[in-house]
Amino acid sequence: MAGNDAPSSGGLVGPIPTTVSLASCPALEAKSILPPVRVFRSTSVENLNSTPKDRAYWRAKSLRRLFSMREPEEDLEGSARLPIVEESIECLRRNDYGGYTIPAHNLYPFQWNWDSAIVAAGWAVFDEARAWEEFEKLFSGQWEDGMVPSIIFHRPSTSYFPGPEIWGSPAAPSESTGITQPPVASVSARFLFEHTEHAELAEEQMADLFPKLLASHRWWYKARDPEKKGIVAILHPWESGMDNSPAWDAALQFPVDNLPPYERKDLQHVNACMRPTKETYDHYLTLLYRFKAENYYDSNKLYWVSPFRMTDLCTNSILFRANRDLRWLAIKLGKTDVVAEIDEWLERGFEGFKQLWDEDAGLFKCQDQLTGKLDDAATSAAFLPLFAGVASKEQAAKLAENLKQWLDKVPFGVPSTDPRDPRFEPLRYWRGPVWIIINWMIFNGLRHYGYDDLAQRIYDDSVALTSNAGLREYFDPQTGDGAGVGALVRQFTRNCRILRNAISRDQPPKIDAINAYVLKNFRTGDKLFMSLLRCYIDDKVEASCVIPAAQPRLAAPVTIVQMPPVPMTNTEVLGSKSRV
Ligand code: DGY
Repeated sequence: MAGNDAPSSGGLVGPIPTTVSLASCPALEAKSILPPVRVFRSTSVENLNSTPKDRAYWRAKSLRRLFSMREPEEDLEGSARLPIVEESIECLRRNDYGGYTIPAHNLYPFQWNWDSAIVAAGWAVFDEARAWEEFEKLFSGQWEDGMVPSIIFHRPSTSYFPGPEIWGSPAAPSESTGITQPPVASVSARFLFEHTEHAELAEEQMADLFPKLLASHRWWYKARDPEKKGIVAILHPWESGMDNSPAWDAALQFPVDNLPPYERKDLQHVNACMRPTKETYDHYLTLLYRFKAENYYDSNKLYWVSPFRMTDLCTNSILFRANRDLRWLAIKLGKTDVVAEIDEWLERGFEGFKQLWDEDAGLFKCQDQLTGKLDDAATSAAFLPLFAGVASKEQAAKLAENLKQWLDKVPFGVPSTDPRDPRFEPLRYWRGPVWIIINWMIFNGLRHYGYDDLAQRIYDDSVALTSNAGLREYFDPQTGDGAGVGALVRQFTRNCRILRNAISRDQPPKIDAINAYVLKNFRTGDKLFMSLLRCYIDDKVEASCVIPAAQPRLAAPVTIVQMPPVPMTNTEVLGSKSRV
């Protein structure tokens, strides 16, 4: 199937165009070419707020685009799902810093790479010009060698660590980090281009953007696959976007350097129990300072010196999909001279992915490139090769089977770590919670392979989570509670205070005393509290704790310590962080 013959995709779902020979791309035969989206009547962006009817139109359109809905428009109007889209639009506006969207006030006050690429597709639903601006700003930070940094520090903020003063990148093109993030940009750019209602604007913008996208893909292969394995490496957990995934635990065992004292700012905005531990942060910073000392502007060198070098499934799946979308764009724009180069990336990618398949587990796994070992952690990234379209039919069937088993264990999918894994923590960053953007990618991949029922379950869960808990950074797969920025702050703070009181009566704190206190005062099996307990134990007691065995549910805490009200902020949607 030639890329330029590909029918229009419904939102980002749909045919993944490539001319890579079908023989070497079994996934492409796996069917599920979705019908093109219906052509809507033309409504101008200016009319967005004018009448309830217009608003209903935009909401329906955005849902259809983002989730590739196939129902008639009437089914969507008046649906309980619609307020989510409306809230998302408001959220984007609230976080608009003038051409770029911050993921969250305070915690994430700059422009993040993959978040921005994702929210551009959100902006496109109701303001295409603004969507293109998001890319313009993002690529204004692109380095000369093609790398798009993970964060662009367009303007100062004191609420984030490590900021530009720690990274110390040159001021031009923009102060930024010296590492990158998953290359979602080409996927989103295709979406904008394919679904535009302002063709002239889209042509003009894409003429400018396409060479930048191409340069960034070339950077990935040059800097992160110099050995031509077909799969690229990440050199820092932050590059994966799934910063705190258990898939990095084993590879982060290298000794920590003697670091300058530092103060984490994230803990001022989110409870420590939902964030990476201090030990993990020490490793993050060790990598940062080592890269800086090695001059991280020489990315070719970093590949060889980094003590952390992983094949990340999330990055590689997104890159593979992005290659296909870049190829589609190249053909549309008449840039056929670059197609062979992209085909080569795709061919090699198919080969590279084969090494990441764990037949016994029926899953793809991340791989430590320094040891050659597949990592044993099963994370939601394992399902992203479906989004890439790189899995064979047989692999897709096993992935679907595995996913069903995960979903049997939790009311809300898809958890970021296998809920049967002892490392699963339902509230800690990337170690259990659900991320809507990952749901969307898995949903998209399942539809591509024809697993419509399973896709529907994920769609329904996503709608239920966001409808019930609001637009949160992430969600607890066991309770459906929103978590991350702004969420559960009061509850956590209160529980922390109670526990701290218990511990401080016992100097040094003793595990038995903590256990007794927990048993007396808290409902065992309360995962929220268990996370909190583990956090306190990690921080305060140098011993392992025997978590009390399951007990009948006990009464709620007996002592409620009066706390000053914690201001709750609004929440946000769409990016990988999707936050407040
Ligand atoms: C953070 O600071 O949590 C970011 O995800 C790093 O990019």
